[in-house]
Amino acid sequence: EDVPVITVDGPTASGKGTLAAEVAQALGYHLLDSGALYRATGLAVMDDGVDPADETAVARVAGLLDLRFDGGRCWLRGQDVTDALRSEQAGMMASRVSALPAVREALHGLQLAFRRAPGLVADGRDMGTVVFPDAELKVYLTASAAQRAERRHKQLISKGISSNIQALRADLEARDLRDSSRTVAPLKPAEDALQLDNSVLTIDESVKRVLGWWSERR
Ligand code: C5P
Repeated sequence: EDVPVITVDGPTASGKGTLAAEVAQALGYHLLDSGALYRATGLAVMDDGVDPADETAVARVAGLLDLRFDGGRCWLRGQDVTDALRSEQAGMMASRVSALPAVREALHGLQLAFRRAPGLVADGRDMGTVVFPDAELKVYLTASAAQRAERRHKQLISKGISSNIQALRADLEARDLRDSSRTVAPLKPAEDALQLDNSVLTIDESVKRVLGWWSERR
C-alpha cells in the first residue's frame, strides 16, 4: 500500500484520541478513531436489545453498522451519537463486544477503508499489531492508571458530568485488563512500536515528538 499510516495504540484514557487528532490535523491526514466503531456497535446492540454475549448476533449488528462521521460529529442510524459514544457505559459495552472475534472481523474492512491519500492516523488498541501491520510509524502511548483516571475525571467535570475518580479508575483498570487479556488482538505494543509516556509530556510535546519521528522517516 502506498498510502502512509501512523498508528497510535494504548490503554483507555491515555490521550490517544487527542494525540491522533492533532497529528492528523498537522499533516492534513485522515483520522480513524477505531474505538468509535466498537462503541457504536455497543450502542446499537443496546438499542436493539441484542444479548452482548451472542457473538453471531453482535457481529451482524457490527456488519450492518450505519455510521457516518461528518464535521466532527458522529451519526449512527441517522442519529447524532457524538456524546452518547463518549459515555463510560458505551466504553464498557465496546470493551465487551470487541472481545468477540466475529465482531472484530466484521469491522476489519471498514477500518481499512479509512486508508486514503494523502495518509491516515489511526488510534485504538490493535492498529499497529493487526489492522495496519505495515504502518510506517507505530506509537504506543502509556500513562499511569492514576493519571488516566484523573484526566478522564477532569474531562467529565468540565462537561458538567458528575464523576467519581475511584470508580473511574476501577472501570478503566477493568477495561484495560479485559482488553489486554483477550485472545484476539489484545492490547500490546507492536514489536516495532515507539513508546511514548504521556504522563511526563504535555499534549503539545507529544505531538511534536510524533511529528519529529515522522519527519525522520520520510
Ligand atoms: O479507545 P476507546 O476507549 O474509544 O475504545 C473503546 C473500547 O473499544 C476499548 O476498551 C476496546 O475494548 C475496544 N477497542 C478495541 N480495538 C480498537 C479500539 C477500541 O478493541 N482498535
